[in-house]
Amino acid sequence: MASPKIFATSIAMALLAAALPAAAGVVEDRKANFKASNLSMRMMGAAIGADDFDTITTEAAKIAAWAEAMPDYFPEGSGAGTSARAEIWTDFAGFKDAAEAHYNAAQDLITVAAKKDSASTGDALKALGATCKACHQKFKSW
Ligand code: HEC
Repeated sequence: MASPKIFATSIAMALLAAALPAAAGVVEDRKANFKASNLSMRMMGAAIGADDFDTITTEAAKIAAWAEAMPDYFPEGSGAGTSARAEIWTDFAGFKDAAEAHYNAAQDLITVAAKKDSASTGDALKALGATCKACHQKFKSW
């Protein structure tokens, strides 16, 4: 059995790892999440045509969960060599606002999709897509 001191240290480290994505993997992790969002958007685009509101609800919920976690995946100093612009860290409040607008748009889409009307769901999906674009224009360089 490990000494109590080492044991306590490993618990502290495990807690830290749970609270914050590991710095080394954080860029890969956020890219994977953005790629997943891209796939969700395409799946929802196809789902509108098929009146498949369940897929829209499921994928919008994934996007909302990612939007909530997103700022934690942009620790200071993680921009080098990525398309993340320096403005993220000079205006972190603005970046958080953009993530929150994205979250709100995903929640709106879930609410609207529950009414099972393709026209209004399509509009809410477009509004969600606009929050991707708005953030990229401000905070992503390519
Ligand atoms: C609050 C800001 C913000 C929102 C909202 C946002 N993005 Fe991004 N996105 C970024 C930033 C910043 C990067 C660059 C990350 C990096 O290079 O480390 C990025 C990168 C990406 C990438 C490239 C990933 C890669 O492999 O390099 C894709 C694809 C992407 N976003 C799609 C989306 C889609 C689709 C949405 C909406 C459903 C979205 N993003 C919403 C900020 C945002």
